[in-house]
Amino acid sequence: MNLKIGVIKGDGIGPEIVTEAMKVLDKVAEVYGHQIQYTQLLMGGASIDVHGVPLTEETIEKAKASDAVLMGSIGGDAKTSPWYQLEPSKRPEAGLLKIRKELRLFANLRPAVLYEELKEACPLKEEITQGGFDMMIMRELTGGLYFGARSTEEVDGLLTARDTLTYNEAEIRRIAKRGFEIAKKRRKKVTSVDKANVLDSSRLWRKIVEEVAKGYPEVTLEHMLVDNCAMQLVKDPRQFDVILTENMFGDILSDEASMVTGSIGMLASASLNESKFGLYEPSGGSAPDIAGKGIANPIATILSAAMMLRFSFDLDREADAVEAAVAKVLKAGYRTKDILSDGKVQVGTGEMGDRICSYIEK
Ligand code: IPM
Ligand code: MG
Repeated sequence: MNLKIGVIKGDGIGPEIVTEAMKVLDKVAEVYGHQIQYTQLLMGGASIDVHGVPLTEETIEKAKASDAVLMGSIGGDAKTSPWYQLEPSKRPEAGLLKIRKELRLFANLRPAVLYEELKEACPLKEEITQGGFDMMIMRELTGGLYFGARSTEEVDGLLTARDTLTYNEAEIRRIAKRGFEIAKKRRKKVTSVDKANVLDSSRLWRKIVEEVAKGYPEVTLEHMLVDNCAMQLVKDPRQFDVILTENMFGDILSDEASMVTGSIGMLASASLNESKFGLYEPSGGSAPDIAGKGIANPIATILSAAMMLRFSFDLDREADAVEAAVAKVLKAGYRTKDILSDGKVQVGTGEMGDRICSYIEK
């Protein structure tokens, strides 16, 4: 198969972790007989440095011309980076939000899995996590607060800021369907998370999710308020299968979920549109404090590449091979600094990538 992959290395640790994911993809291509054609694309701070804006038309067009896009991370240190002297719409994050919108990537999948081998890195008590947990956070990605009108102005002599949270029923329906489709292939449970005791947008969310649920009688639906969900994630993470939620709640809950897996450096993500196209990126940020040191954990990016093989190319065997290789490396005791525990062997970013490659087999 010929795989046309757009690559946004991005900022901070982005270039280092994407390099490792490309290494793994190349190894997969070699072992399974595929050809990969990479197109390097600029976005975020790296694009600001060259073009003065975080996302150009050229990047959007080239991304659209690819089958899928692999991304590192974007953004820098808000206190010291000159990118944050720019107005908000010109900063790195604005590029990320815009590309999600332009490519219509409304469905963001963030799997949070506790690996048996990483139990010691999990901050929760063992009795809470015994047997592990495996949940999929399905975050709506192109609506809600992050895309509503916003302004800051003086009202009655007081600086007043406004953000708007809007969802229409079609936006809710399409993400809900995706959530139920995924749940059907998993443990058949959807927890829809909202704040329906306060927000109109949440009340509509709940109503539409209930309508969609009627088409999936084999899937159990429960509703949970977002504040309770934040608590349940640390009290009993095993109860969750698919968490279906709107943009901002999903942003916050997925960071929380990543932490209970041991490290945000383990959390992959896929952002999908109506077709097979997707943008694949680790859920963590660009970690400028450790950039260039060769210590960043590339596993989330490598697992994102596995999601790409699965969702954009239907290469399930290849995706399984990557996931199995990650599990084997962890089992063999190799750890990057963020997931290191007593008795394990610390390796750098590049060595972690090499070791994962060495376990890729047919
Ligand atoms: C994420 C990030 C982004 C988001 C930021 C960088 C805009 O936190 O992917 O979770 O909020 O979506
Ligand atoms: Mg986030």
